[in-house]
Amino acid sequence: MTQMEAELGALRAAAAERLSAADGVDAVEAIRHDLLGRSGRLTALMKNLGLAPAGERPALGRLANEVRTEVQGAIDGRLAELRAGDLDERLAAEELDMSAPARSIRVGHLHPVQTLMRDLRQVFHAFGFEVFEGPEIETDAYNFELLNIPPDHPSRDLWDTLYVAEPGSIEAGDSRPAADGTILRTHTSPVQLRAMQALDAPIRVITPGRCFRYEAVDASHAFEFFQVEGLVVDRDTSLADLKGMLEEIARALYGRDVRTRFRPGYYPFTEPSVAFDIGCLVCGGDGCPACKRTGWMTILGAGMVHPVVLRNGGFDPDEFQGYAFGMGPDRMTMLRHGVSDIRLFFSADVRFGSQFAEGR
Ligand code: DAH
Repeated sequence: MTQMEAELGALRAAAAERLSAADGVDAVEAIRHDLLGRSGRLTALMKNLGLAPAGERPALGRLANEVRTEVQGAIDGRLAELRAGDLDERLAAEELDMSAPARSIRVGHLHPVQTLMRDLRQVFHAFGFEVFEGPEIETDAYNFELLNIPPDHPSRDLWDTLYVAEPGSIEAGDSRPAADGTILRTHTSPVQLRAMQALDAPIRVITPGRCFRYEAVDASHAFEFFQVEGLVVDRDTSLADLKGMLEEIARALYGRDVRTRFRPGYYPFTEPSVAFDIGCLVCGGDGCPACKRTGWMTILGAGMVHPVVLRNGGFDPDEFQGYAFGMGPDRMTMLRHGVSDIRLFFSADVRFGSQFAEGR
């Protein structure tokens, strides 16, 4: 065996031994550098091949190449082993703890006014009412005239109206209300007419919906708000039925012990008209700032449907009677939760809204 053969054999054995002892990627890279780097030991041996006697050179060259391939393979193999080991370790360390408590997911909830309206729907549903909706953009005819409120009637002042402009009139610098009477509805009462025209008696409907008024906004007035209208049309319906129904509704919403009272009121579309009060929810009737020291809170207006309105709806007032009521769910929600400013309902402030996360 030539000296060079011996050296190659020794290098091969030493490389295998060092590699199996190497405990990290860096140690293996150092071995690669020692043996195969530009001034590495194997590199140096191969450079010296030329010094060997010509007869031995081919065999030595083959052997040297074999050793280099083997050492390279061993280095790559060891690196792969070490990297796999790293991965196993990481997987073990980063293992998912399936028993850890989950991060809670934040879910939204209904707006408190919507919750109250949903409660109203449920209560009325139990009394056989169905929901009948109408458009938010209405005509003067439905919002006023068919409800027995002629143009220029002083009671129009009760409903400050937002008009839709006549197309083109704003651009022409001459803005005026649309000639066809298009307006934003100021109450849900126009849906009484739409229901009477669409349905046969007996009618029992409620109309939840958004209304709009040209209001100076303050703690108790908004320019958009909700109403829930109710309408019953039948052959034998009286003020006593209206009274009984509203008292039941008040008990369902505010508890069996709630006190109620009716006062005379005025609306052009009902005759007689009433206002319906409940005993103050804050002071129980003794008088406090919330009820302006009266002990009572008004939650709706109501009355027997005016004969003119029945006729406009297609019913003969000699044969049919009806009662109607209009409630303000925004105000009712304020009473329910002790909210002092209606503007909060439209503020889109999560700090306000999230207080009603239970929905009531
Ligand atoms: N529409 C009335 C308002 O906005 C409320 C109302 C009163 C509705 C009496 C009715 C009713 O149906 O009978 O002020």
